[in-house]
Amino acid sequence: MAKIYNRQRIGILTAGGDCPGLNAAIRGVGKTAIVKYDMKLIGISDGFTGMINKDFRELAENDLSGILTLGGTILGTSREKPFKRSGKKNEIKKPELIKHHYDQMGLDCLVCIGGNGTLKTANLLSQEGLNVIGIPKTIDNDVWGTDITFGFDSAVNIATEAIDRLHSTANSHKRIMLIEVMGHNAGWIALFSGIAGGGDVILIPEIPYKEEEVAEYLVRRAEENKPYSIVVVAEGVKKPGNIKNAAQYLSWKISEMTGLETRETVLGYIQRGGTPSPMDRVLATRYGAAAADMIAKREYGNMVALKADKIVAVPLSDVSGKLKLVDPDDPLVMRAKNMGTSFGT
Ligand code: F6P
Repeated sequence: MAKIYNRQRIGILTAGGDCPGLNAAIRGVGKTAIVKYDMKLIGISDGFTGMINKDFRELAENDLSGILTLGGTILGTSREKPFKRSGKKNEIKKPELIKHHYDQMGLDCLVCIGGNGTLKTANLLSQEGLNVIGIPKTIDNDVWGTDITFGFDSAVNIATEAIDRLHSTANSHKRIMLIEVMGHNAGWIALFSGIAGGGDVILIPEIPYKEEEVAEYLVRRAEENKPYSIVVVAEGVKKPGNIKNAAQYLSWKISEMTGLETRETVLGYIQRGGTPSPMDRVLATRYGAAAADMIAKREYGNMVALKADKIVAVPLSDVSGKLKLVDPDDPLVMRAKNMGTSFGT
């Protein structure tokens, strides 16, 4: 017999790739829920794995102290996809287990903080009858339905700082410096850090590039006595068949085609580490607090989102399965092109 709780008990989990701001979001939900609504906060470990294993603990207000500036997630995360079937015999029916544990834990709602995969699972759980609220998180900024995800600003800051540093070493050696940034299948981090860091070439998955165009552009810069060039590449750009790593391949190819000395840096997981930027702390707090307000109003089945700097609710069913990619005609792309930046076309 599930224990009857007289106050709303809300479960909270973080799933998918981690990023700066997750703890700020947990704190935003938790402090609003506890201080404003006297709710109970249940922290679930390691994303949906924690719901499958019933691995959870109650979080009191003082558990939320000192986490605003903390990178990563105090709850842990995983890339568990409970609705993905392996097809093995006697496979555990994870969604059913999650629903059963949701009831056993006496939850009134489940807050899922994550990117596309997490929000897709959140929507499916909502369709199974669970009360779910989604919060959009990812450094990739590729969640449809919101202007921006938290984690993105921190990643752009980290990538820009790295590009700034590449200018001095590129200038000292008169080299082409190529930097690969994350973003999965979207080019948002490359676009923003490329512009912020003064990249000469910005290559993103949404704008197919020609190697010859890049080579000619870089040779032209050298002929115009530009001492060095910076090439910013999104990890998701199209690569020849068997090539996995864009940076290594392109660095070799550019050097082969131009005869110019080229070096590459793969920024990798540094973009996901460390303390969140102030912008991400504020955005994650806004999202978290809004999620608690939605729960109090029983507005379940939604993702909190930012539209023209207003916090709105977007149905999870509208978000699920979609991606927000860079529009090749985005004004930011046009302006960069007008200033002479090459996108390899
Ligand atoms: O989604 C965030 C992200 O960092 C992507 O930019 C990247 O492609 C992916 O996660 C890496 O996944 P994992 O953390 O599983 O290696």
